[in-house]
Amino acid sequence: MKKSFAIAASLVLVALSGAAVADEQLEIGQKIYERAFGRGCGTCHDIASNPQLSANIKAGTLTRASFEKMLKEGKGGMPVAIAEIMKNKAVEKAGYGEDQAVDALYQYISSK
Ligand code: HEC
Repeated sequence: MKKSFAIAASLVLVALSGAAVADEQLEIGQKIYERAFGRGCGTCHDIASNPQLSANIKAGTLTRASFEKMLKEGKGGMPVAIAEIMKNKAVEKAGYGEDQAVDALYQYISSK
């Protein structure tokens, strides 16, 4: 009885810390999205004539790999963004590396 309670309690803790990590990731992704280049990705991407990131991810045309490539190389009117992302205060504070920061941004945009 006691043992099964301990197991159940630790399972709840694992689930809760997983949710907290996911929340932190989305929050950091949002901060990058809203603050990159001082005005956010949305100043360009929430305009209909530019690529609609969330819709493209949902449609399967914007993969995690092509997303990352675009951030690192830029293209046409799309500026290279990785350095800007890495100097975001929330990214620095969390101690995220490039992969984690790009993941957070990709997850946030997917959730929009
Ligand atoms: C100055 C305006 C501008 C800003 C700011 C900007 N983008 Fe872009 N982005 C563009 C344009 C324009 C394109 C289309 C480039 C092309 O295909 O020629 C683009 C393309 C992209 C693509 C490829 C989309 C697809 O479906 O092929 C991604 C991913 C992307 N941007 C992510 C971001 C993210 C994330 C940020 C914020 C860190 C950001 N962009 C900030 C203008 C901008």
